[in-house]
Amino acid sequence: MTIAENTENLSEKVRDFISSPRKILINGQWSDAASGKTFDTIDPATGEVIVKVAEGDSVDIDRAVKAARAAFDDGPWSGMNPTTRERYMHRLADLMEENADTLAELEALDNGKNVAVARAVDIQIAIDFIRYMAGWPTKITGDILPMSVPYAPDAKFMGYTLKEPVGVVGQIIPWNFPALMCSWKLGPALAAGCTVVLKPAEETPLTALYIGELICQAGFPEGVVNIVPGYGHTAGAALTVHEQVDKISFTGSTEVGKLIVKAAADTMKNVTMELGGKSPAIILPDADLEIAIPGAASAIFFNQGQVCCAGSRLFVPDSLYDQVIEGLAEVANSMKIGSGLNPENMVNPLVSQVQFDRVMGYIKSGCAEGADLIAGGNRRGDKGYFIEPTILGNTNREMKVVREEIFGPVVCVQRYHDIDEVASLANDTIYGLGASIWTRDVGNIINIVPKIRAGSVWVNCHNILDVVMPFGGYKQSGFGKDMGKEALAAYLETKSVCIMA
Ligand code: NAI
Ligand code: MG
Repeated sequence: MTIAENTENLSEKVRDFISSPRKILINGQWSDAASGKTFDTIDPATGEVIVKVAEGDSVDIDRAVKAARAAFDDGPWSGMNPTTRERYMHRLADLMEENADTLAELEALDNGKNVAVARAVDIQIAIDFIRYMAGWPTKITGDILPMSVPYAPDAKFMGYTLKEPVGVVGQIIPWNFPALMCSWKLGPALAAGCTVVLKPAEETPLTALYIGELICQAGFPEGVVNIVPGYGHTAGAALTVHEQVDKISFTGSTEVGKLIVKAAADTMKNVTMELGGKSPAIILPDADLEIAIPGAASAIFFNQGQVCCAGSRLFVPDSLYDQVIEGLAEVANSMKIGSGLNPENMVNPLVSQVQFDRVMGYIKSGCAEGADLIAGGNRRGDKGYFIEPTILGNTNREMKVVREEIFGPVVCVQRYHDIDEVASLANDTIYGLGASIWTRDVGNIINIVPKIRAGSVWVNCHNILDVVMPFGGYKQSGFGKDMGKEALAAYLETKSVCIMA
């Protein structure tokens, strides 16, 4: 398939958007990169170029940060009354809703994912989350605190706290849920009164840039949101060391997360890190397999396994092993593979050649280390980055495929013998993002949930995300939360005020 064939049914709006090179948004203006450079964004279903995008680097980041700084310090956003700030955010959510089909198509084109899923999941949650956060500005409050002050017994004091925006925020996001990550980052920052420089992933810049257009249409004051597409080691890195940036919020690999924490330390930036995972899905001996088998399959195959909390290590008791493996293989072998722009295709390409090569390398490594190849394992087609849903059976903790994040449609199935050992097997990883347990026994839930070292634990489901539920990792999966009211807290400082009468 060629890109012309893949894109022939796209809407007028998407065609229009990809008909000319996309630019950088700084201070309410769209411009080319200062260097004049561009990079290609690729259609993963065909490997062909969709459109050229301005390649921002440290010079553009500096301009963007200065615009955000001025917008913060001069107060058109941080000083705006909260009701008005809410209204802008609702306007943005309304515009995203009006353009939801366009955003979903653009996402499917740029990332490769299924367009109907993008509409129902990525884009809908992105909209809902902006709305959820739009409700907060009028509800951000501090406390009044009863002071004692033992060394000033004769004076009277009133103590209270003010919640204030952290300031200028640099946000660096990945390619697996580009529009959703954009919303996860922008929502709480804007609600808190921060101004933003956002750098989308170089693989998938398009939906963030489209949302940038909507932000301009919504009439946000200039400089409140700046969007600079570009590479991580140039544009991204420049953001992490810029003196005028107060906070960095990052979603991406643990490897880059560590670099960013170190880079941000020099200027003591506030940092939030949502990193990789190797999340366990644990089928308990009493599980309802009618639910657990399709559940475990979607835990890993959703979004081609390019999900930070994907259920990539599946634990199955000996007693159920053959039945689960057989059921899983049936699901894997029946999934339709093809371009995400056809909503019937439930297995879509990986995002890039780099990811394709990585994942194929892991499949080879798993087989070489003695895993059973139960299903999949191959490339599909000779164009685009398609990999069959893959099941590796009889894996163990020593294998590289079990220890490292694969970030592809590859599940490693491990047997266990004793329910008392399963939590410690599940915790045997440097990561701690998500986990699921599958059981009908409430006693199992009460016993096992507290033992799991992970930021989200699902029972009889996996990958369920909701705007009210905080999301983020334990251990090397990072710190700080996206979504829920905890996401807002990450963009607020607390000022203690003491008045002496
Ligand atoms: P990455 O962590 O390199 O990319 C994420 C973002 O960080 C992108 O916007 C990138 O431009 C930026 N970035 C890269 N280097 C940077 C630097 N030195 N300073 C500042 N920003 C920088 O992830 P990549 O290379 O795309 O994927 C590699 C692996 O990372 C995947 O195979 C997967 O295991 C993991 N990953 C995890 C994600 C998650 O949601 N937790 C998302 C994407 C990747
Ligand atoms: Mg792309």
